[in-house]
Amino acid sequence: MIIDIITLFPSIFDEIFATSILKRAKDKDLLSTNIINLRNYATNNYGSVDDYAYGGGAGMVMQVEPIANCLNEWKQKRNYDEVIYTAPDGKKLTQAVSNELSLHKSICILCGHYKGIDERIRQHLITREISIGDYVLSGGELAAAVIADSVVRLLPGVLSDETSALSDSFQDGLISPPVYTRPADFNGWRVPDILLSGNQKAIDEWRMEQSLIRTKERRPELIH
Ligand code: ADE
Repeated sequence: MIIDIITLFPSIFDEIFATSILKRAKDKDLLSTNIINLRNYATNNYGSVDDYAYGGGAGMVMQVEPIANCLNEWKQKRNYDEVIYTAPDGKKLTQAVSNELSLHKSICILCGHYKGIDERIRQHLITREISIGDYVLSGGELAAAVIADSVVRLLPGVLSDETSALSDSFQDGLISPPVYTRPADFNGWRVPDILLSGNQKAIDEWRMEQSLIRTKERRPELIH
């Protein structure tokens, strides 16, 4: 999969893509990323890509021209399945959205800043708008990283245990059951006996039951 990210703050992504699962995906050639500095597409000598909002009001707006030039250039090299804009008023990111995106070959994520981007970009060049939650971040970079991480871990071959993405919370609409590792007893805090029983069928049933209990307690709206 190819993920291109258009941003005003490219260095934010250095560590994110050089670490953990995302790094592994790149090392295995399952992921290729390009961090594109929007300032390189500024139409003035100062490198600024924002301007005052028509009609007045606080906050700057990202201009149409640098973004359009940047996207048009990259679209000559790529056949994007989606051009995503990260924004608090986008559609909420869910596991279902991540699953859908993980089936694509090539996506582009445009990170918003300031008061947002000129609406004409949203109307004409963006195919999907994603919010990672009902709160406002200073910019779309962290949202883009969240999207990339949740999508890339679903690509076949990225996780060493093929089934482990399938048993994630939300993958079946439920929260995952609790997990434990050694020691079985830490100062009297014991691992549930069932997990030490060796009876896989009973363990699977217990896990499903725990998933349901947790989901009912913590996220009742997930239970239909
Ligand atoms: N940019 C600012 N806030 C955001 C949010 N909650 N989700 C996605 N992008 C954003």
